[in-house]
Amino acid sequence: MRHLLTTENLAADTATAVLDTADELKRTLLGREVRKLPTLRGRTVITMFYENSTRTRVSFEIAGKWMSADVVNVSAGGSSVGKGESLRDTALTLSAAGADCVIVRHPASGAAHRLAGWLADTGTCVVNAGDGTHQHPTQALLDAATLRERLGGLAGRRVAIVGDVLHSRVARSNVYLLATLGAEVVLVAPPTLLPPGVEHWPVTVSHELDAELPAVDAVMMLRVQAERMHGGFFPSAREYSIAYGLGEARLRLLPEHAVVLHPGPMLRGMEISSVVADAPRAAITEQVRNGVHVRMAVLYHLLAGEGEQA
Ligand code: CP
Repeated sequence: MRHLLTTENLAADTATAVLDTADELKRTLLGREVRKLPTLRGRTVITMFYENSTRTRVSFEIAGKWMSADVVNVSAGGSSVGKGESLRDTALTLSAAGADCVIVRHPASGAAHRLAGWLADTGTCVVNAGDGTHQHPTQALLDAATLRERLGGLAGRRVAIVGDVLHSRVARSNVYLLATLGAEVVLVAPPTLLPPGVEHWPVTVSHELDAELPAVDAVMMLRVQAERMHGGFFPSAREYSIAYGLGEARLRLLPEHAVVLHPGPMLRGMEISSVVADAPRAAITEQVRNGVHVRMAVLYHLLAGEGEQA
C-alpha cells in the first residue's frame, strides 16, 4: 500500500493481509509484559487531528509506539493552523520535518485524498483517520477484525448497519469493506437519515429494525451525529430511539450467536441502551482493543511492507 484513504477500492487480498497481520500481532503480544516490537524503529509517524477523537488518535499513537516508531501528535488548536496556515502547507511542513506517515482526521470529505495528492512527490504516506462524512477505513478494518474473531469469518454473513447512515463515514467504509470480504449488508434507517445515491451501494435498505434483527449475524449501531445536523433532524430523538434504538427487548430478537458492534463514542439511551452496550454479546471494548492491532498492521504494511496504493 502507498496510502490508506478509503475502503472503496481496497482489494480483498490487501484487506485480508492487513487483518491477518493484525491477528498475528495480537497473538505475538498477548500476555507480554513489554508490548514493544522493533519493526518501525527510526520511522516517524505524525497524527494530525482537526476533529475530536479519543479511540482513533490514541490507538494510532499506541500502535506506532508498540512498533517503536517515533510518534508526534499535532492538533489544529496547538499548531500554526490556528494562525491560518492551510492544510496543504501544514502537510508539506510535516513531510519536510521528517514524517514517514501522516495520519489525518479532518471535517471535510476528501481532505485525506487532497493531502495524498500534495504529498505525492514525497515519501510520506497518508492514512485517512476520518474525513467528513466520507470514509474511516481503519474503523472498518477493526470492525472486520472483530467480526472475524467473533463469527469465524465474514463470507456469507449478514450485517445490519443501523441509524444515522447519512452522516456516517463508518457506515460508508464498512459497506464497501464488508462487501469486498463477502458479507451481505442491510442498512436500517429512517428515510431522512439515508444518503442520496444509496441505491448504488452494494447493500439492501430497510426502515424496519424489528424485521431485520432475527436474520442477522451482527448489528452495528451508529451514533446519531447531531454536530453534523444543522437544522435539527427528523424523526425526533425520542421517535428515533423508539424506532431504531437497540434495547433489551430488541436484543432478544437477535439470533443467539449475533454480535453487537458500535464504533463509539456511544450515546447510551439514544441508539443503544446501557444494558445492551455492556452485554456479553456486545464487542465494543474488543473493537477498541483490536483497533490497536489493526492500526499496527496498517503502519506495518505502509512503512515496512511493499505493495499497491489503496
Ligand atoms: N470510532 C471513532 O472514530 O472514535 P473516535 O472519534 O473517538 O476516534
